[in-house]
Amino acid sequence: MRIAMVGAGYVGLVSGACFAEFGVDVCIVDTDASKIEALRGGRMPIYEPGLDKLVADNVADGRLSFTNDLAEAVRGAEAVFLAVGTPSRRGDGHADLTYVYAAAEQVAKAAERPLVLVTKSTVPVGTGRQVQEIVSRARPDLSIEVASNPEFLREGSAIGDFMRPDRVVIGVMDGPGGERALAVLRRLYRPLNLIEVPILSARIETAELIKYAANAFLAVKITFINEIADLCERVGADVHDVSRGIGLDGRIGRKFLHPGPGYGGSCFPKDTLALARTAQDSGSPVRLVETTIAVNDARKEALARRVVEACGGSVQGRTVAVLGLTFKPETDDMRDAASLVMVPALIAAGARVRAFDPQGMGHAKPLLPAGVEYATSTLDAATGADALVLLTEWNEFRAVAPEKLKAAMRGDVLLDFRNVYDPAAMREAGFAYRSIGRP
Ligand SMILES: NC(=O)c1ccc[n+]([C@@H]2O[C@H](COP(=O)([O-])OP(=O)(O)OC[C@H]3O[C@@H](n4cnc5c(N)ncnc54)[C@H](O)[C@@H]3O)[C@@H](O)[C@H]2O)c1
Repeated sequence: MRIAMVGAGYVGLVSGACFAEFGVDVCIVDTDASKIEALRGGRMPIYEPGLDKLVADNVADGRLSFTNDLAEAVRGAEAVFLAVGTPSRRGDGHADLTYVYAAAEQVAKAAERPLVLVTKSTVPVGTGRQVQEIVSRARPDLSIEVASNPEFLREGSAIGDFMRPDRVVIGVMDGPGGERALAVLRRLYRPLNLIEVPILSARIETAELIKYAANAFLAVKITFINEIADLCERVGADVHDVSRGIGLDGRIGRKFLHPGPGYGGSCFPKDTLALARTAQDSGSPVRLVETTIAVNDARKEALARRVVEACGGSVQGRTVAVLGLTFKPETDDMRDAASLVMVPALIAAGARVRAFDPQGMGHAKPLLPAGVEYATSTLDAATGADALVLLTEWNEFRAVAPEKLKAAMRGDVLLDFRNVYDPAAMREAGFAYRSIGRP
């Protein structure tokens, strides 16, 4: 079986390489010439653990290839996946579907045989039908069945998530065309039968909505525990015990109950916003999600004020070390990272910022104010700093000895916005230590 993957980003590259690992012939196409050039040269355009080896192995076995030429990728493909970006549209927060519609039309025009066109990108409910209209108009002579197969992988553990998913969701149109599309997708995912992964097939609208409902639910859960964490601080409770106490209830579940600086990343912010807009337009607003968005946005700004307060009310002329710039560990993705709010706020308040991130500094530099200094290690960032702010829970920040960290700094303020350190150990090392939701 041969497939094409349109988009060599975090989703397209990982999914394409994983399908190749399943034994399928995969051609990945991207309009970004530098990405394809890098991939052809054996270099990964993104940081994702294990991806370099997976790609190299499958290229060597002749099942995985890369091109800039869409027609070449589509030639002979039974299924073509769209894994292009769907960012927030400027101004109104709707998902910007320009890339999806353009790619769909390009695929239809290039197609030489009947195929299944699968949206793996996260797209608002109703998009699949729009895409079907676009391709039917572009190629009335050819049967192109549109299906939805939303992706649930997480950056940082993307390969494992793709290979061992909790479920696979497939949305198809009603009728025989939909049945054919479903059969092709079931065949592609057949290797997952061995580990008994549930395959949930549904109407295309349902599949599209499942993805948004899942992300919105997780965003609500994170935001809920963040608010409970703030309350814990006021009343002398410990949020970790609260999380455990509620998470052990099987109806609630233990995951996504870790407090932090507010959710970010390439999905939750834009997907919650897009769901809220779709729901408003449909006359059925999701007010819980709207409130979650507002609470999360306010949180990122509030945490910058917290740093200023911890520094005695002003950071003017002070040096603040920021550990972690990416939105989470094990990725170089900077989209909607907490650092994008925190660092400019500190600079605007007069601080000198020394930042360090194990993988994200290359992507961070063009996004952060010009005055930010980039360190070469955790201790280098801390050297001479009056305050230290931990924003992303990379393992190497956990590993550093508290005494060494303290000795490198000039001041003693430590704000741990991921609760990675032991409060007692940090106080013993001489830090004025503050974390989130712990007395
Ligand atoms: N990143 C994640 O963790 C994640 C997880 C699940 C779902 N998603 C969804 O998957 C989609 C892709 O996300 P991503 O993070 O991989 O985006 P990305 O920005 O990393 O990658 C998108 C790629 O598509 C390419 N592209 C755009 N138009 C093209 C065209 N016409 N032909 C060929 N290539 C084209 C771009 O150059 C880019 O390389 C989004 O809808 C996102 O919401 C992302």
